[in-house]
Amino acid sequence: MQHRVTIVGPDHHFLCSEDRSVLAAMIDCGRTSVAVGCRSGGCGVCRVEILDGHYRTGQMSSAQVSPAERLEGFALACQLFPAGALVLRAAPRRNVASDDAVCDPFERMRRQCAAMAGRAS
Ligand code: FES
Repeated sequence: MQHRVTIVGPDHHFLCSEDRSVLAAMIDCGRTSVAVGCRSGGCGVCRVEILDGHYRTGQMSSAQVSPAERLEGFALACQLFPAGALVLRAAPRRNVASDDAVCDPFERMRRQCAAMAGRAS
């Protein structure tokens, strides 16, 4: 069964099945409003705040989303699975390096290459 996922801010929505992560469905739709990193619940760049709706989560690093934050509605989009319509917003950690929070993986790679080239010269 598919559910409507709405990401506030950029004001867009897409459909996501219960067995697909919100991040994977967002990528499938070509959206970039939530940053993409490891895709396995470890890096924290895809952290979101769920404003409304029911869901389940997979394995998430407690360093990225503490138990208290989970109770407040924070989760990692790569480990977030809808059980109904969801409304959420991107909520990257304040201590995530700005380069890690770049949504576009090609832009992130370009910046990393530029930084490495700067170190080499
Ligand atoms: S992409 Fe790394 S925790 Fe979700």
